[in-house]
Order: sequence, then C-alpha cells, then structure tokens
Amino acid sequence: MKLSVPRRAGAVAAVAALAVTGLTGATASAEPSGALAAPDIPVANVKQHLADLQSIAAANGGNRAHGRTGYKASIDFVKAKLDAAGYTTTVQQFTYNGTTGYNLIADWPGGNPDQVVMAGSHLDSVSSGAGINDNGSGSAAVLETALAVSRANLQPTKHLRFGWWGAEELGLVGSKHYVNQLPTAERSKISAYLNFDMIGSPNPGYFVYDDDPAIEQTFKSYFAGLGVPTEIETEGDGRSDHASFKNVGIPVGGLFTGASRVKTSAQVQKWGGTATAFDRCYHSSCDNTSNINDTALDRNSDAVAHAIWTLGTGSTPPPGTVFENTADVSVPDNSTAVTSSVTVSGITGNAPSSLPVGVNIVHTYIGDLVVDLIAPDGSVYNLHNRSGGSADNINQTYTVNASSEVANGVWKLRVQDKASIDTGYINSFKLTFP
Ligand code: TRP
Ligand code: ZN
Ligand code: CA
Repeated sequence: MKLSVPRRAGAVAAVAALAVTGLTGATASAEPSGALAAPDIPVANVKQHLADLQSIAAANGGNRAHGRTGYKASIDFVKAKLDAAGYTTTVQQFTYNGTTGYNLIADWPGGNPDQVVMAGSHLDSVSSGAGINDNGSGSAAVLETALAVSRANLQPTKHLRFGWWGAEELGLVGSKHYVNQLPTAERSKISAYLNFDMIGSPNPGYFVYDDDPAIEQTFKSYFAGLGVPTEIETEGDGRSDHASFKNVGIPVGGLFTGASRVKTSAQVQKWGGTATAFDRCYHSSCDNTSNINDTALDRNSDAVAHAIWTLGTGSTPPPGTVFENTADVSVPDNSTAVTSSVTVSGITGNAPSSLPVGVNIVHTYIGDLVVDLIAPDGSVYNLHNRSGGSADNINQTYTVNASSEVANGVWKLRVQDKASIDTGYINSFKLTFP
C-alpha cells in the first residue's frame, strides 16, 4: 500500500485527508482541501452598485476623487451596506495633499485570526470622471462578494477581511497607509491579499496577476472552468494597491481587464472585441456606467467570490504538518532510479525556504547512492551524491530551500544505485511543513 498520510507532528492522522501516491502524472491541486463552492454573484447587484456610485459622482461635481465630497460619499455608501450585513467596519483616516483621505476596512467575524484572506479595491476615481470601470468595478465586485458572504452566513476557516482604498490614483496612498500602520505581527497574519482594479473594461481582456502561485492558480482554475483563456497581467506591475502589500512580503494576486493599452489582433481572436484600447475611457469623463462590459464584470465578480471561498474555507493543515510515505521501495543494484512520493495538499503558496526533508534509506554501501528531491514541477534538488563510502544507511533530515516551488503537488524522493554488489531500499520519505 502506498499512501502519503498528512498528519500533525506528534499526533496520529490529525488531518483526515489521505492522498494516494505513486501515480505517474498525478496532477497537483493548488487548492486547500475541503474548500466550499462559491455562489454565483448576481451581476445585476454589482451593476446596481455601479449605478449608485455614478449617482454619487453626479451629485458631487462629477467625480469621486480624493479630497472631494464624492469620495467620502462613496465610503459612506459602501460602509452602510457592510454594517447592515453584519461586518465590523473601520474607517481609517490619512492626510494627503492637505486633505483627508479614507480607507474602509470590513472584517467578517470569525475564522482563524492568524490566517487572514483579504480582498481589496481602490474606491477613488480620478477627478475627470465618475470612475466606474476604474475602479467602481472592483469596488462593487468586492462589495457584492462581501454581501454574499453575509447572505451565506459563511463560517470560513480563515478570517475574511475586505478593504476599499483611498487615493490610489495619487500613488497607492491609502493602501500604503494601511500597510504602514499595521504592526509587523498583523502583516504576517495576512496569508493572501487579492486586488481588483478595473475588472469590467468595455473591450476586455482577462488578465491574472503573476505573483503568488497558489493565488494565481486559484483564478486560473476558475477561468479554465469557464473555458475562458487568461493571460498574465503586464500592463504595469505595481500600478495598483497590491504593490503596497507585496512590498512588505504579503502574498498577492488579482484580476484586471485592461486599461489604455491596445488589444492585439491575437487577443481579439482569443477574447473577441476590437483591436483598440481595452478601456478607451480610462481616466476620462466617459468612464461612466456605459463603460462596462457586463460579461467581463459578471465573470470577474464570480472569480472574486471563487477566490474568497476557495482560499477562505479550505482547511490548511496546522503548522508542523508532515507528509510521509512509509512504504518500502527496493533500490535495484546498479540500475535505474526508483522513487517514493508524497502528495502535499492544503498548503497555500510556496514551499518554505527551509524545508525539512526526512530520508531513511536502508543500504549496505551509501557510496553507491544518488538521492534527489523532485519538486512537483520536476525541479531537482540533490541531497546525496555517492559520498560516505562503505557506510550503511542514510537516516537523515536534509534542509532544502524550496521557496521557489509551489508547495502543493506530488513530491518525490528519487534514489539511484550506481554501483554493483550492495543493495537496499527506501524505508521512508517525509516532508515537514511549517
Ligand atoms: N488604477 C490603475 C492605474 O491607474 C489601473 C491600472 C493600470 C492597473 N494598469 C494596471 C491595475 C495594471 C492593475 C494592474 O494605474
Ligand atoms: Zn486608475
Ligand atoms: Ca549497489
């Protein structure tokens, strides 16, 4: 029987998931085990929020920019909905350009306070218009996802937090303020920050930020399920609030449907639309409720909810979780390599920079052996290369810097005996995640 059994160190089978290994070509799921399925987000509700933001702009000189009355009115509008839905809201003030700016933070009560999954959007517009795609779209989708959490009375394993940022258009000011005032200990509790800025562009592309691999994969899987191709976001990395979080080491991801860059003919083939700007009204007065592609808004809103549900409700194994394969694998004399596998699941993000790799090989001449750790993507880390001469057995924990590898997936211990006479077997192989 070849099983890898995730268990808590010092306890027996504390984690229920069992993963069968030894399957060639087994695919890795990047998603925590046991995550709940997200509801469909009604795009009509998202559009109603956009219509309300448009009305707020109209009543306040045509914009919702930092320092203008339309911005504070936008904050009050979003806050009232969240308060009514049972959120704990906080309005955070800062000063920029001599005027007061505001961030709105909404916490959904419950979940593990040491593992926060956060989604955010900038709520300010530029002063030239109502900012309905940039960024009413992200703001409204995050708001409607938060309201859907409340409607579902969701009891996530992670703590859920939502944020609406001020003065993004003046240089990510609000989100930088939020991150800067967070104590280091609080920053390190944020396991994921998801950013949504411009997700309803009228001539849309479907762009996913290329950052934390597990977050990226969560979005990509969602779009793959719809049969909608995605591309990596390249229209200016660091041009939105995720940069404030990334700069202090928080794993980030997000979605984007394009700004002033022109859609290529290859992208038109892929997504439809025209070979013109993704958003011809970017930062202009025509960025109003007509400047939205409903299909893009609908898909991306559902993707926001998918990510919150997937990352927020899965059970991440507790620190010290061990993935171990104790099945014996005989190592043939002076022959081809053999492997023992474990399937890692339920870990968000990359493997650690100090990954303990427990190797127990019974063999009568370890100078015959080459031993490698193989990551899920096939990367090879050599652990032992025919040193040790005639010594018996390898029973040792190696420390591998695996920080460039996605944690989830099938990891292998590969052992090859390269000289004749002495033989042995893999007794056990284990990975310990922090
Ligand atoms: N608010 C952003 C800006 O004005 C919009 C934007 C442009 C963007 N390029 C981006 C958002 C790339 C995310 C990713 O700069
Ligand atoms: Zn903008
Ligand atoms: Ca041998």
